[in-house]
Amino acid sequence: MEEFVRGLPKAELHLHIEGTLEPELMFELAERNQLEIPYGSVDEVRAAYEFDDLQAFLDIYYQAAEVLRTEDDFADLMAAYLLRAVADGVRHAEIFFDPQTHTERGVDVGTVIRGFARAQQAAAAEISTTLILCFLRHLPSRSAVKVLEASLPYLDHLQGVGLDSGEAGNPPELFAEPYRLAVEAGLRPVAHAGEEGPAGYIRAALDVLGVERVDHGVRASDDPGLVRRLATERIPLTMCPLSNQKLKVVPDLADHNLKELMDAGVMVTVNSDDPAYFGGYVADNYLAIAEALDLSRDDLVRLALNSVEASFLPDDRKAALRQEISEYLVIGDW
Ligand code: ADE
Ligand code: ZN
Repeated sequence: MEEFVRGLPKAELHLHIEGTLEPELMFELAERNQLEIPYGSVDEVRAAYEFDDLQAFLDIYYQAAEVLRTEDDFADLMAAYLLRAVADGVRHAEIFFDPQTHTERGVDVGTVIRGFARAQQAAAAEISTTLILCFLRHLPSRSAVKVLEASLPYLDHLQGVGLDSGEAGNPPELFAEPYRLAVEAGLRPVAHAGEEGPAGYIRAALDVLGVERVDHGVRASDDPGLVRRLATERIPLTMCPLSNQKLKVVPDLADHNLKELMDAGVMVTVNSDDPAYFGGYVADNYLAIAEALDLSRDDLVRLALNSVEASFLPDDRKAALRQEISEYLVIGDW
C-alpha cells in the first residue's frame, strides 16, 4: 500500500511553503542569519509541535518563519519541499505562500518570489509548480491590497490568490476588495473556509470572493444544501487529514468526513497543508486517511484523479497526467 501510494502520480493543491520548514533547516537558517531561536535542539522543536487549535499552531509557525531572510533562504526552503514532493509522486504543485509574513518584517516580496523561482526552475523537469499568493486574514484588508500591489511586478510567477491564517471571526467578506483586484489582475481565487469557521464562511467564499476551490471545507457537512451545491457545481475541496487531526478540527481521524463527502459526489482532494508541523507529507496523508476510513485502492486512485482535475493546469496537461495514472495502474500491475 505504501509503495502504491508514493508512486501514484498526483497533484498537491494545499501546501503552505512556510509550513515545510523542517526544524533542521530552521536551525541552519538561524545560524546563517545569526538569529536566536527559542529552542535548544531539533528534538525540542518537534516536542513543541502539540497544538490545541489553529491559533496555537499559527503562533509557533509565524515565529519560525522569522529565520527566512534572504533569497537563498527562500530558495533552500522551496528546494527542500520539491525534493520531498517528487519522492511522494507529486507531478504538479500549486503552492501557497504568505507574503505578509515576510513583508511585515521588512523582507521585500521580490526577495521571496525570486528565491522560490530559482528552486522551482531547477526542479521543473520533475515537477511543475505555480504559486498562490495568500492574504493573512488576521490583518486588515488594506494590508492585503498593499501586498497585492507590491506583488504585481511578479505576476508572471503567480497563478492564484488565497486566504489563510486565523479563520474564526475573520469572514471572507472582509476581503472582497483585495479579491476583486487580484481577480482583475488575472489570479484565480481560492480560500481557506470551513476549517474552524462555520459552513456560512464557505458560502461567503463562494458567493462574495467567487472562489474556484475551497481549502479544507470540513464544516460543509453542517449544511446539506451546501454539500449538494459543491457536488453539483463541481467545486473541489482541498482537504488535509493530518492537519485536521493535529489542530483538533476533527476529534479523531476515524471521524473525518472526507469519504462521506466523496460519496456525496464532492470533488475531494488530499493534501499536506503544513507537513513539517503535522507529521507527514502528502503520501502520508493519503495513507493515514486510507487507514482511518478504510479507503479502497479505487478511492485512492479517485483522490489522485481529483487532484489533477481540481488543479489549474490546462486541459492537455490534465489529460497527460490522467494518462500517467492509468499507465501506472497497468504497468505497475497493482
Ligand atoms: N496557514 C498555514 N496553515 C494554515 C491552516 N491550516 N489554516 C489557516 N491558515 C494556515
Ligand atoms: Zn492551509
